[in-house]
Amino acid sequence: MLSQKLLDALNQQVKFEFSSANYYLAMAAYCKSEDLDGFANFFVVQAEEEKFHAMKMFNFINELGGRALIYGFEDPKNDFTSVEEVFQTALDHEKIVTDRINQLMDIAVNEKNYACVSFLNWYVDEQVEEMSMMTGLLNKIKRIGESSHAIYMLDAELATRTFTPPAAE
Ligand SMILES: [Fe+2]
Repeated sequence: MLSQKLLDALNQQVKFEFSSANYYLAMAAYCKSEDLDGFANFFVVQAEEEKFHAMKMFNFINELGGRALIYGFEDPKNDFTSVEEVFQTALDHEKIVTDRINQLMDIAVNEKNYACVSFLNWYVDEQVEEMSMMTGLLNKIKRIGESSHAIYMLDAELATRTFTPPAAE
């Protein structure tokens, strides 16, 4: 069972996760336009992850007898001037996601909805990974600076990222 408050908050998060996929696709498109195919691949995979996050929550709402609602969302940022700006934007976005997950967890804890707390723990753990990954890559890019050779090396590394649905791992 889900209270109306928790249901509304979960539905807003489904929307946010889907909109995150669009944010990352816009970043992928920018990287592609700069001939950074590996970086583009990294963000396409990230967009897949966000869609997975959204669908996992959509399914959970249904499982608990709630009705998932699908909303539209605003255009993502499409204009970037560097990969550093892209990763800074990605990290800033993940910080917002982390705050939102924590707020959702607050509601679930206050309502003593332990099924929801257990479900949201997965997202808490996921956000630790997301923040660490984005922070690590942003720091690398800052160190690399203008070195095109190092950017090329990182691009080759990021080209190898693939999407694996967590359940299949
Ligand atoms: Fe997410």
